[in-house]
Parts: sequence; structure tokens; C-alpha cells
Amino acid sequence: TTVDLESGSYGLDGHPDFMRKEMAEQPEAVRRALRGRLDTRFATAHLGGLDLDPVALRSVRRVKFLGCGSAYYAGQIGAGLVESLARIPADAEPASEFRYRNPVVDPDTLYVAVSQSGETLDTLAAVQELRRKGGRVIGAVNVVGSAIARECGSGVFLHAGPEISVASTKAVTTMGVSFAMLALLLGRVRDLSAAAGARVVAGLQALPERIEAALALDDEIAGIASRYASARHMFFLGRVSGWPVAREGAQKLKEVSYVHAEAYQAAELKHGPIALIDKDMPSVVIVPDDDIVVKNVSTMEQIRARGGPVIAVTTVDLPAGVADEVVRVPRGEAVLDPLVLGIPLQLLAYHTAAALGRDIDKPRNLAKSVTVE
Ligand code: G6P
Repeated sequence: TTVDLESGSYGLDGHPDFMRKEMAEQPEAVRRALRGRLDTRFATAHLGGLDLDPVALRSVRRVKFLGCGSAYYAGQIGAGLVESLARIPADAEPASEFRYRNPVVDPDTLYVAVSQSGETLDTLAAVQELRRKGGRVIGAVNVVGSAIARECGSGVFLHAGPEISVASTKAVTTMGVSFAMLALLLGRVRDLSAAAGARVVAGLQALPERIEAALALDDEIAGIASRYASARHMFFLGRVSGWPVAREGAQKLKEVSYVHAEAYQAAELKHGPIALIDKDMPSVVIVPDDDIVVKNVSTMEQIRARGGPVIAVTTVDLPAGVADEVVRVPRGEAVLDPLVLGIPLQLLAYHTAAALGRDIDKPRNLAKSVTVE
């Protein structure tokens, strides 16, 4: 990192640690990521750094996101946004696997290398493999001038500001924002209508306030964390757009609290892992404002029928008594729910780690940036 912590040039500003400070900075980070990039006249986004004109944007037949850790899960959120808004097939893959499987590099695919630091060796190696085979790759990177940003040559900078905490928060959120803009742009050169595009633009403009409202649930979530901190294991469950949110929530809890968290597609629960459900196995269930709320409600009922505690994290009104704890984030543009629902999960990980007395900014065995194989 280029930030000199010793000199105090980038301090905690009264926060107990950097994770807490950076979570609090998210509304401002999102405003920065959006600044100058939303076009209300044509209901689209301007991402000048992509270097893709409308003809090139139209020639993209598939989008693949590559990243490691939280950047991979953010990429999976991005893939969902691209499929919903642009109706282009999209997926995400761990960058750490990519080069080892002799990947088929398709000229019609737009590859997106996702990295906060821009220095993760596995992600850089994936970019190099792509470039060697003539693949079209752009970066979604926070640190300007970093190795991945330079190797890609074009892309979108996250503008999250310096991130010090090992557990990524504001960078992940701005990754989601950047992918929403990319999806909007790809959609608006295709069949996404101006009216639908305008709803996404308005949704993005309203995002900082929604995130503020989610951050304001801090006390409530601290209470939940203290009630469940003694659990040795937890499930994080979600369907479709809620699934990568669950994965990132589980990752965050593991990283800072060392509680074993397993993310699972909610619909797959009944095909095996439901055997683990008992009173000592709480499940965090992500319920976005989508067409399958009723399916998520039935998942919660199935867990509770087997004595498992349920913590619902949602943007919708759930039937009374369906969960032991309900964390309710304000409704807004539904397609952006994955960006907002991640915030309570950051707070849950944070407060669980605090309740267990962990060193939040220096979790054991982890480094902020992994520049080795
Ligand atoms: C490390 C960190 C993770 C991070 C990942 C990717 O493994 O411990 O928290 O998500 O690297 O980092 P990047 O800088 O490429 O986003």
C-alpha cells in the first residue's frame, strides 16, 4: 500500500479500527464511484475508461468476471446484474483457478478482472493469460497505477478511496456499483428501455441513502451478533441474486471472527446440508425483493421446523414470526438489492468478531493483498 500509516496521514479519525471506518465511509465511496458517470438524459452510464464504443459494446456476447476472495463474489453479483439488465450470459470465476485449466478464451467475451489492490498475483496471472491468448480484458480496480490496472490498460476505477482493513467493505460495495453501471451501459445499447434504464439510474442515485439506512441498523445488529456469537458454525443462504451476497457474508464472518460460515444456495439446502440443522446451527437467510420471496420464506420455515434459528436479512415485509431475527433494509430499486443487503452482513461479521475479542484489522493468517501463489 502507498498509504503511510505511521505518519498519521491516513488515520482512524476516531474510529476504533479501519474496518469500522471504511464501513462508515461507504455512502461517500458510492457517491465518488457514481460521480460524473450517470447520464439522466439517455438513462445510461458513462464509463470512459472502458474504451469501448457502441459497436464494440454490441459485439460483446458474454461477460466473465475474474477475481479472488471478495472480488470474486462481487464479480458474481456483477454477472447477475449483467444478465438481468443486458440479457447477456455472464458468470464469475475465481481468478486463482483460471490459468491452470487451459481456459478457452473466446473473442466475443468481455473479461473483467476485479481487484481492490490491483496487485493480487492470481488475478494478474489470469489477465496475462487472457492477453496472451488475445482475450478482451478490462479491469475493475481500486488502486490507480497498480499492476492489474496497467496490464489491462482499460477499465473502470472503483474510486473507493484507500482501503486498509483486510476485510474488504467499501471496495466490494463500489465493485457492485461499477458493475451495475457496466450492466446498465451494456443494456442500454441493447434492449433495456429508456424507462427501465431511468429506474436504474434513479436507484443508483438513491443508493448512498439506502446504505446509510443499512448502516443505521448497527445497534440492532450488534445485539444479534452478541446473541449468536457463541455459535461454532453458521449457514448463509440465498437464491439467485441473494446467493453471492450470502457467499460474501460468509467470507466476511470467517475472515474476522473465525466462526465457520458456509454459504449455500437456499434451494440446495434440502439436497444434503439440511441434515446439519439443529438449535446450534443458525442460518442467515438473504431475502431480496424479487419473484422468489415465497421460496425463501419456505426455506426459513423448513429450517425453523427443524429447530434451527433463522436471521433474515431482507428488503421486503416478511410474514410475522417467520424468522427469529429480522434485519430490514429499506426497499428501493430491486435489482440493486445485492449491493445494499451486503451491508448488514458486514456489520454482523464485525460485531461477532468484536464480541469474540478478535483483532479486527489484523485477522490471523490473512494479508490484505496476496502477491504470491
Ligand atoms: C486477499 C484478501 C481478501 C481479498 C482478496 C482479493 O485474499 O485477504 O480479502 O478479497 O485478496 O484482493 P484484491 O485486492 O484483488 O481485491
